[in-house]
Amino acid sequence: MNATVETTSLSQRLKTETGHEHDRMEQLMEKAKVFANKTNYAQHTLAQYYFQQDVENLYRHAEVEKIIPDLEVRGRSQAALQDLEDLGIEPQSEEIATLNVGYPEALGWIYVSKGSTLGAAFLFKEAQAKLGLSAEFGARNLAAYPEGRMRVWKRFKQALDDAHFSKEDQDKVIQGALDGFSRFGELLENLDQLK
Ligand code: HEM
Repeated sequence: MNATVETTSLSQRLKTETGHEHDRMEQLMEKAKVFANKTNYAQHTLAQYYFQQDVENLYRHAEVEKIIPDLEVRGRSQAALQDLEDLGIEPQSEEIATLNVGYPEALGWIYVSKGSTLGAAFLFKEAQAKLGLSAEFGARNLAAYPEGRMRVWKRFKQALDDAHFSKEDQDKVIQGALDGFSRFGELLENLDQLK
């Protein structure tokens, strides 16, 4: 009988090795008082829009399309853009932070974006309760997928694990995720200056 080697899946490594950054995001969101008023919320939506633009730019890698089912190209940045219109804001920046991000690092960025839809369930409730927004006005970018967040998330994690990356490539995906969190953190830290 072959000895089985205990290995940690990529999805598990991502959760464990980027968890500290997730905690930092929660703290930054709290500090930014995103739901205290519509101005703060609009600036947060701008951050979401820029981040989604960064992530969607990575869908250009042919390998990404092969590995990840239902990429929903331009899905969330379009929703955020419509929300911004509802809120009377037009994004002024066309800067994309991921022009030099390669593959498989790209998958780490996409992990950050896809995973953030889980926390968005809570944010969506806040946007409804505190600001009177909805899936049709102002909070489209936080609304659930018709199929349900958890199902889509599980399928995404499975796709990452099924790709059977080497340890080196897993490290690159994790670095991509850390870079993605870092970018969103920068946006959150500078929320009131975003245009
Ligand atoms: C107040 C803000 C936030 C709250 C309350 C929150 C909450 C959550 C919750 C409840 C989960 C699901 C945990 C589970 O069921 O296993 C989750 C997962 C996740 N969130 Fe957040 N989140 C927030 C902000 C963010 C932000 C800003 C990002 C990224 C920019 C983010 C990225 C992720 C990722 C990648 C996961 C998946 C973790 C994993 O299982 O691998 N979250 N979050």
